[in-house]
Amino acid sequence: MAQSENQVRVWVDGCFDMVHFGHANAIRQAKQMGDYLIVGVHSDEEIANHKGPPVFNEKERYKMVRAIKWVDEVIENAPYVTTLESLDKYNCDFCVHGDDITTTVDGTDTYHLVKKANRYKECKRTEGVSTTDIVGRMLLVTRTHHRGPEELNKDQVGAISQDHSTKSPWTGVAQFLPTTKKIIQFAEGKEPSPGDKIVYVAGAFDLFHVGHCDFLEKAAAEGDFVIVGLHSDQVVNHYRGANNPIMNLHERVLSVLACRYVSEVVIGAPYEVTAELMDHFKVDLVCHGKTPIMPTEDGSDPYAVPKERKKFKMLDSGNDLTTQKIVERIIRNRLDY
Ligand code: CTP
Ligand code: C5P
Repeated sequence: MAQSENQVRVWVDGCFDMVHFGHANAIRQAKQMGDYLIVGVHSDEEIANHKGPPVFNEKERYKMVRAIKWVDEVIENAPYVTTLESLDKYNCDFCVHGDDITTTVDGTDTYHLVKKANRYKECKRTEGVSTTDIVGRMLLVTRTHHRGPEELNKDQVGAISQDHSTKSPWTGVAQFLPTTKKIIQFAEGKEPSPGDKIVYVAGAFDLFHVGHCDFLEKAAAEGDFVIVGLHSDQVVNHYRGANNPIMNLHERVLSVLACRYVSEVVIGAPYEVTAELMDHFKVDLVCHGKTPIMPTEDGSDPYAVPKERKKFKMLDSGNDLTTQKIVERIIRNRLDY
């Protein structure tokens, strides 16, 4: 890409395993510090050498980072210790990292070289979310599950259903405090242009992963403006069963908003895609992937209206990853978080 003379080029690097909105927020802040953002992502081998094998392989991690809307370029197989050679090779002025210390396997600060050269800046780490925390939530719910699902969970569900908060029992452990400011920072705030083809998709989008990313890329290719309807925690809990969702609605909103294929999000969309919803957002096409579609409470198809209107399309994301499979991967790997 042609580079203008006074363009400020920024470098960020990391593992980006189980990408969450904390990573996306670091990337957003880094982009704000310059004009062009390059993200170096470490290989599986490099991560394994310094902190044990990642949950997602490098192909998945590269794709996830590329899908974050503030990223201009991804450099694969970036070294764990950030070097001046990397910054120079890609003409980056400086490197940005969250305000926490990252060390190599032998305890060296991974940014000591760029710090010494005065080519290091810090962004604010997002409190209340980390890969360790997310894995902890997953293992917590799984353990509860194994103890004897029915009685235990029914009590919890009962108590929670009396409570008019938006949280499910399982997302109640989230430490992140959502604000409207954060949503505004993540949102594009753009409107569809006249004549734009509007695509609507709905779902849980829990633990936003590379399967979602592949699906949304396909959905974006069907039109000009993609609206994602996110179901509330109670709705997801109702159709996914006792231990879901793992990320609460606010967290899921930020993860989806960070994705470059998404133009707008409906926060707490109805499970059924109604005529009112389609008319309100002037939806031209409703899409769903190949994952099973649970019927509504009265047993009908939630996509009955778009199907009647011949505005429904099944998309093949070509990816069979699900939130459940991620949980299984973690348990199988017996990762020591
Ligand atoms: N980051 C952040 N806020 C978080 C988590 C990560 O700002 N809650 C930032 C890190 O400071 C870093 C970038 O995201 O600049 C990518 O770093 P990475 O090595 O992938 O993340 P970790 O620091 O290992 O975070 P986690 O444990 O959540 O994976
Ligand atoms: O399962 P969830 O509700 O999060 O899925 C949201 C959308 O993404 C659905 O349309 C689903 O079919 C699609 N999807 C997909 N491929 C995956 C995972 C989800 O097409 N691997």
